[in-house]
Amino acid sequence: MKVLVLGAGAREHAIAKRLHDEGARVVGAPGNAGMGQCGEIRDVDLKNVASMVDLSKKEEVELVVVGPEAPLALGVADALREQSIAVFGPTQRAAQLESSKAFAKEFMKRHRVPTAPFCVFTQPEEAEAYVRQADRPLVIKADGLAAGKGVVVADDTAQALEAIDQLMRKRAFGDAGQSVVVEERLVGPEVSFHVISDGESFLPLAPAQDHKRALDGDRGPNTGGMGAYSPPPMVTQEIEQFILSQVVEPTIRGMASEGTPLSGALFVGLMLTDAGPRVLEYNVRFGDPECEVMLARLDNPLLPLLLAAAQGRLDATSVSYRAPAAMCVVLASEGYPGPYETGVPIRGLDSAAKLDGTEVFHAGTRREQAECVTAGGRVLAVTSVGENVDAAGERAYQAVEHIEFQGKSFRRDIGWQARTRQHSSKLARSEP
Ligand code: AMP
Ligand code: GLY
Repeated sequence: MKVLVLGAGAREHAIAKRLHDEGARVVGAPGNAGMGQCGEIRDVDLKNVASMVDLSKKEEVELVVVGPEAPLALGVADALREQSIAVFGPTQRAAQLESSKAFAKEFMKRHRVPTAPFCVFTQPEEAEAYVRQADRPLVIKADGLAAGKGVVVADDTAQALEAIDQLMRKRAFGDAGQSVVVEERLVGPEVSFHVISDGESFLPLAPAQDHKRALDGDRGPNTGGMGAYSPPPMVTQEIEQFILSQVVEPTIRGMASEGTPLSGALFVGLMLTDAGPRVLEYNVRFGDPECEVMLARLDNPLLPLLLAAAQGRLDATSVSYRAPAAMCVVLASEGYPGPYETGVPIRGLDSAAKLDGTEVFHAGTRREQAECVTAGGRVLAVTSVGENVDAAGERAYQAVEHIEFQGKSFRRDIGWQARTRQHSSKLARSEP
């Protein structure tokens, strides 16, 4: 079977590699140097639906797997389905769960999915008046997609007012700030929970935890994710059951009942508060680097799952695991998430990949003649499996030592919450 994987990150390399290992002929677009080792690489404009549809037709692919959210928000899945091409990823209307935070919050309210109390504003004056009279810490979120940067967790009223000014008046993220969500600030560890869905049924994957801040100790600016591991010990069986029955089930059912069934991946970002799990956000694609650790653990062949979800005939109800734990450490360019250099030669990839239980997925890389060089902020995602999180981490960090490039930056504390067991595992008994 010929499959097109759209995207250029480590998530897409992990998917492409797995599909290739399972015997699929993979085309990656726009791809990276790693994806070039497990398939053909083609040029494509991820901001242009016609460009993605044309490529799918030209390559005569039988399945398209959409990695990132932006093409889904533009309606690439709708356009592919119109051409009778199977696609793993939701329609534009279903993708609103990620592309509009106001839509997501109103949806959660309609379907009683536990989330922080909130208000939506389209006028800055009204948002400011609300913030001034509020007597609790708040979070200000741009409604639209802002590459993960449109959220301000405010320490005080002045910061909240500044965020409203930046998002709504100065339009720091363009139209994403046309409206804002103002919500109560929650406290607790964050976890990522994914399911694969065909719009009706769903298949839960292993829970994971991402590390969004750039620096050790969860300090520094937010990034796309500097590392992940699975399973996070704070997601007890009881909590997993709560997430499935109180969050995933009503979300999948609610989307179907509103005429916008969500097929593809549903990724719920949750905070485990003292009052129980609360949804922070929905995404309609796999998380990156969560995808790398989930796939490292997954035993089921991936292609049949993605195809069944795309074709509305998912019948598996549980997955099996080939590894009890996995960890991914992201190697970034110096300066990321700010400005950074590219074109820096990378050494040691082959010796790192030879290590037992380890795979090195490429994110921002490209081939320059015989060399592999950096081409982005997140460069590589070093992913290892093990008997437990500590063992997986030991292997991943050993592999990190094999790889060298000037400015190589990474966090040394991925998985700290699993190691110190500093977590809250309280479950809500009350209504959201
Ligand atoms: P989001 O894009 O909505 O997931 O927000 C990005 C990040 O902001 C999350 O990963 C959290 O760290 C933080 N955040 C979002 N909403 C809240 C909230 N209600 N309380 C505390 N932190 C939040
Ligand atoms: N790792 C977080 C995300 O993919 O949004």
